[in-house]
Amino acid sequence: MNTNRRDFDKEAANWDENPARVRLAADVARAIARQVPLTPDMDILDFGCGTGLVALNFAPLVKSVTGADSSLAMIEVMEAKAREQGLNNVHTRHLLPGGSLAGAYDLIVSSMAFHHIEQPAALLRQLFAALKMPGRLCVADLDSDGGEFHHDNTGVFHFGFERNALGDWFRQAGFSKITATTAAEVTRPGRTGAVRTFSVFLVCGEKNAG
Ligand SMILES: C[S@@+](CC[C@H](N)C(=O)[O-])C[C@H]1O[C@@H](n2cnc3c(N)ncnc32)[C@H](O)[C@@H]1O
Repeated sequence: MNTNRRDFDKEAANWDENPARVRLAADVARAIARQVPLTPDMDILDFGCGTGLVALNFAPLVKSVTGADSSLAMIEVMEAKAREQGLNNVHTRHLLPGGSLAGAYDLIVSSMAFHHIEQPAALLRQLFAALKMPGRLCVADLDSDGGEFHHDNTGVFHFGFERNALGDWFRQAGFSKITATTAAEVTRPGRTGAVRTFSVFLVCGEKNAG
């Protein structure tokens, strides 16, 4: 773990130029759509949206999509892409450290952001509060990778997650009907140079009265 902040602002302009990253986000978006029926009345939040590689896929299918990120440059790229694609139901929220996440969303998604969060259990409680009842949360991230996935672990608080441990945190935050599936696989040289396959899970849970 390296707790220095990674400067995502510097990476925003070229973020979408990595084909493996684009493919991974598309796989995650498809995995979410398999788990959650997307309907025209839905308001969706993408936490740690980056340039919108996941969230923008949903915009034509739902009422609104909001991208939330601590990097202003990332959300500016997402806004520009939404304009270019003629999507007028895309909004953004610039999140300051410790800032409020208040909202009333039908679905919250997050892809490859949780390993950058120091206290994921606390974030899960915030995301639970920002959902309507009923509502759903889907989090995609690396299965435990031993710190191998990132070539530079700056800003990486978690070397992936154990699905069961994340599921327990979902339950403690109030979610039920928790599922875990494999959303994607990425084969590439790890930090030590050896080629290996990294898997990305999708854990989903429901906020409901039951
Ligand atoms: C690895 S990128 C993933 C971006 C996007 N979800 C994707 O799949 O391309 C992680 C994103 O999380 C954002 N992030 C990191 N820490 C954050 C925090 N505490 N609050 C909100 N966003 C955060 C970063 O700015 C970055 O855009």
